[in-house]
Amino acid sequence: MIVLGIETSCDETAAALVDDQRRILANVVLSQIEDHAPYGGVVPEVAARAHLAHLDGIIRQALAEAGLGLDAVDGIAVTAGPGLIGGVAVGVMTAKGIAAARGLPFLGVNHLEGHALTARLTDGIEFPYLLLLVSGGHCQLLCVDGVGRYRRWGTTIDDAVGEAFDKVAKMLGLGHPGGPLVEAAARGGDPRRFALPRPMIGRPDCNFSFSGLKTAVRRAVAGLPQPLAAQDVADLCAGFQDSVAASLADRAKRAIAMFHVEHSGNGAFVVAGGVAANQMLRARLSAVAEAAGMRFIAPPLKLCTDNGAMIAWAGLERLRLGLVDGLDCAPRPRWPL
Ligand code: KG4
Ligand code: ZN
Repeated sequence: MIVLGIETSCDETAAALVDDQRRILANVVLSQIEDHAPYGGVVPEVAARAHLAHLDGIIRQALAEAGLGLDAVDGIAVTAGPGLIGGVAVGVMTAKGIAAARGLPFLGVNHLEGHALTARLTDGIEFPYLLLLVSGGHCQLLCVDGVGRYRRWGTTIDDAVGEAFDKVAKMLGLGHPGGPLVEAAARGGDPRRFALPRPMIGRPDCNFSFSGLKTAVRRAVAGLPQPLAAQDVADLCAGFQDSVAASLADRAKRAIAMFHVEHSGNGAFVVAGGVAANQMLRARLSAVAEAAGMRFIAPPLKLCTDNGAMIAWAGLERLRLGLVDGLDCAPRPRWPL
């Protein structure tokens, strides 16, 4: 069984082919970073137009790289939300067009489900597992019981963690997207120079909060001579990243304890989403899992950030279960898991 996956919910135009042996036959990602750079963030209208201009070519390229024609494909999966609605609509209409023309099953996939099931594509793990989903729009702890069966144990009460990385990067004049730039700058920094808050530590739930930390960085910036010296930027990045790590680790510890109560030590702790590309955060979270005797799984970097393979795989999992969607499936800007 082979599924074509299409992803256009943010600023990556992506198409991929995966099969039921967990092989990625092609995975093409075109980043629009350059298109949005002059604006310091993703502009929805610019994104939608770029998806429209490039998606056909990206799908053709994926098929060519896999050495396949559409006649070899068993289903068309596409991100149907949540995301920037113009881009999602471009992806959904394209996918419906192919599905209708070829008489193929259509699968409207939740983008978060794509991130959530990636570890089954990369590592073949069984349900249930504990998932920390950290991306530009989301920060959640989920118990993944099966395809379409997600229990949310914690979420952010304000900003998503990737959003906090992006905003801090903007304050420090680093550019967009902020995550990789903050991570790189932090390497030369002293995390202890600025006393930044470590949000939510010790709270009896599994929720997150990053807006106070972001404001603390803003205040620290305002107290420094302008323009900022490179060392100031590095120290702020290191301090910010350290606080995020401490907060994520504390929240993960709590969720792992809950997971143990239900599943007595079986199962894995998985991180997914763009922020899971951060090496320092991966190391901290891996240590938490190890201390709790739990297997730790973090997908390879290019499967952490948005891509078509995760959508193709989620579509394949749904297709195997007969969870096919009709062509009346509507693009959704908001769609909780
Ligand atoms: O999953 P993703 O590609 O798109 C969404 O679904 O949101 O995540 C993008 C987010 C951005 O906020 C980006 O700054 C962040 O992931 N990110 C990182 C790193 N690489 C990407 N955050 C921290 N460290 C990184 N290395
Ligand atoms: Zn994503």
